[in-house]
This record gives sequence, structure tokens and C-alpha cells, in this order.
Amino acid sequence: MSDKVILNYNGSELDLPVSTGSMDEKAIDISKLRSATGLITMDPGYKNTGSCESKITFLDGEEGKLMYRGYPIEQLAEKSSFVEVMYLLIKGNLPTQAELDKFVNDINEYNYVSEDLIKILDAFPSSAHPMGVLTSLTAALSAFNPKCVDVSSEEEMYRAAVTLLGKFPVLASWTQRKVKGLPVNYSNDKLSYVENLYQLLFKKPGQELDLDPVIIDALDKLLILHADHEQNCSASTVRLVGSSHAGLFASISAGISALWGPLHGGANQAVLEMLEDIKNDGGDVEKYLAKAKDKNDPFRLMGFGHRVYKNFDPRAKIIKVAADNVLEKLGINDPTLEIAKKLEKAALEDEYFKSRNLYPNVDFYSGIIYKALDIPTEMFTVMFAVGRLPGWIAQWMEMRQNNEPIGRPRQLYTGAPLRDYVDIEKR
Ligand code: ACO
Repeated sequence: MSDKVILNYNGSELDLPVSTGSMDEKAIDISKLRSATGLITMDPGYKNTGSCESKITFLDGEEGKLMYRGYPIEQLAEKSSFVEVMYLLIKGNLPTQAELDKFVNDINEYNYVSEDLIKILDAFPSSAHPMGVLTSLTAALSAFNPKCVDVSSEEEMYRAAVTLLGKFPVLASWTQRKVKGLPVNYSNDKLSYVENLYQLLFKKPGQELDLDPVIIDALDKLLILHADHEQNCSASTVRLVGSSHAGLFASISAGISALWGPLHGGANQAVLEMLEDIKNDGGDVEKYLAKAKDKNDPFRLMGFGHRVYKNFDPRAKIIKVAADNVLEKLGINDPTLEIAKKLEKAALEDEYFKSRNLYPNVDFYSGIIYKALDIPTEMFTVMFAVGRLPGWIAQWMEMRQNNEPIGRPRQLYTGAPLRDYVDIEKR
């Protein structure tokens, strides 16, 4: 007997088929609901709504599990590299050495950006937020690469992916160099993807840059942990925009805008700003815990809680260790980071946070690492975007390859009922 849910409405019955995913998750198919009953479902924030079938990432928020293409995040963070994870997400399987070498070469073939983009960069005020600059420069790439991707061609899809993977770290670094008053920098093919990102961000003209393996390893892990997170706000945005058959660069640019918000990727910046505020206000952690618990106070502890992880975020466990290593290695003695440690301890012992399963999320620790690496606070979300790029690309490709229909939710209208227009002199 096939699995189904029977809906009783207005005296008639409707069978709603139930599908089962490969990790035994269940979903009710309501696609015929409106035509059969006139009803729609209401689910603001899509807390219970599946928007697609996907083979990319699985996460179980109750159990605190995350895997990319079936591989547990813990194994990938320990044994893999960011570039290999990019391949895994986009192509579906771990590469052989020859496939990985080709992938790296193909990315390197595109790791430059048209000099004309510098004119756009120059037009931004140096006070512009790097995420605003990044989303604009990414959208501008479509003007410099006007050819549409033929989504039925695996080769063209792959080419579009490596083009963006090659150019994105350059654009990301430019948004920071602009703020710091540094000249733009270019890729170095002799370095790994993450080493190159590091030198793109930090290298001064004429300088020999020290590539500390502890720092490169921590960055590599951070990028792996951020690489995909199934149908979150930005990935859903990328899929939704792409579902209108908008191009890859335009869809990714929209995803970057979605990531910018403080309730999503912008949280890592918000974490550091909150820690600075606490420090400048005398460092009283308890006072801020009380504010976070006060329902009349809109303040929330940034970097705590997660929409789907109602258990410890598995990424936070891994990155906490990397954060400790980086702090130990760099010998950081920073009062902001001391406050972070105190806040983490106090919240983990507090009944309010324990009873609501509010644990530190990945943004809490990533903000700490970026701060220790001297990455400016407004750049934190840009770093997240660099990590999330392969996930967005994989989500966009899957959506187009599955020929998904244009995304278009319904609504329950609660505005004025039908009324007649009143001429202005009679109002
Ligand atoms: N500080 C204080 N209280 C909190 C916090 C917090 N950070 N997060 C949730 N709560 C409380 C809520 O007030 C609510 O309490 P109640 O049950 O007494 O009303 C309860 O915990 C449940 O919270 P919701 O808002 O329903 O949880 P939701 O799943 O909608 O929100 C979110 C998740 C947006 C991440 C939220 O926890 C939050 O705002 N956290 C801070 C911002 C942050 O760190 N965002 C990064 C997310 S991770 C990422 O994007 C990679």
C-alpha cells in the first residue's frame, strides 16, 4: 500500500501522496490541493514547506547532522579541501586526482577579471559596504560574459561554474582592497585556491606574503563548512531567481543580497559588532544575556540559535576547534575575543538558552576567526559568500537540469474587499 495522507474537507476526501527521501524524510504532495479543493496551504517563512527535491545536501536539525552528497561534514572538514568540496557539490562525486587537477586548471583559466570592472569598482564610494559592491560586481559579470548558458549542455554548465569560481575570489578581494586603500590584486596560479584567496586579500605590492599553514587550514575549513546548507534563504533565492531563467551570474548576485541580511550571513558581522558594543559598554556579559531574554527588548544574541538546528550546529563544533587553534597560534590577546568566550560559556549554562536549544552557530565562531585574522568586520559576510558560492552554483544547476517550473507562491489576501473608486474631490 502506498503511503498517503487523507484530507477530509467539506464532506469529501482527497488522497495526498506521501514521498520518502533517501534519508527517510517524508513529504506530503499537495500539488493537486488547490485544483481539487480550492484550498492553499499557509506557511510563512516556509518552516514546513519543501520547495524542491534535491540530491546535494542533507541536514537533520534535530540530530545536528550535515552531509554534502552523502559525505558527513566532519569527514570532509578533516580530510578534504575546499576545492575538492566545490567539485563534489557541483559534479556530485569526489574527483579522482586527474579530475581534480583538471578542475583546478579550468578554474585558473578564468581567475582574472576584465580591467573594465575596475571602473565600476572605482565608482563606488570607499564607504560602500563590501557586500553591496560584491553583489553589483557579480551582476556586472553578466555584461562582460553575455553568452547564455545552454543548460542542456553539461560542458557549458561546467564552463559557467569554473568561470565564476575563478573570478569570484578576485572580486571578493577587490571589495576589501578598496576599503583598505590598496591597489587591486591578481590571482597566482601557483597557489592553492585558498592560498590564492588569502594573497588576493592581503598581499601588498612588492611584499613576500607568509602563508601560515594554521591560518590557511582554518580558512579552508571555514569555506568547507559554509559551502552549502540546502534550501536556506540565499540558496532558495538563487533557485527562485534562476527559475525565471535568469542567468547564473544574475541569480548568484541575488543570492549574495539575500546572504547580506543579519538574520542570515550578515550574522557574522553582527556578532562582532555586538561583542564590540558589549566591550564598549563595560564588558558586562550578564547584562546582555538579560537583554536577550527580555521579551520587551528587541535585542537578540547574535550568533546564537538557528532555524533548523535545534541541537548544536555540527559546523560550530568543528569551527570552535579551528578558532581555538588560530587564537593559540596567533597568541591573540583581544578583549573582544575574551568577551566572546565569556558569552559562549554564560549562554550555554543559562536556562533560557538551554530550554530553547539556542546554541552558538557557525557565525559565532567564524566571526572570531576572521577577527583574529585581521579581516575587517564588514568583510565577514563576503568570506561567507566565497564559501557558499559552490553551493549556490550546484543549487542553480540542479534547478535548471530538473527543469523546475518558475517559483511563484500563493497568498491569502487579507486586504480591502471589492470597493468602487472614489473621485479625488469626494474623498
Ligand atoms: N537571542 C535570544 N533569543 C532568541 C534568539 C537569540 N539569538 N534566537 C531565538 N531566540 C528565542 C526567540 O525569542 C523565541 O523565544 P520564545 O519561544 O520565548 O518566543 C525562541 O528562541 C525561538 O526563536 P525563533 O525566532 O522562533 O526561531 P527561528 O528559527 O525563527 O529563528 C534565527 C532563527 C533567525 C537564526 C534566530 O535564532 C536569530 O535571530 N538568531 C540571531 C541571528 C543569527 O545568529 N543568525 C545566523 C543564523 S545561521 C546562518 O544564517 C548561517
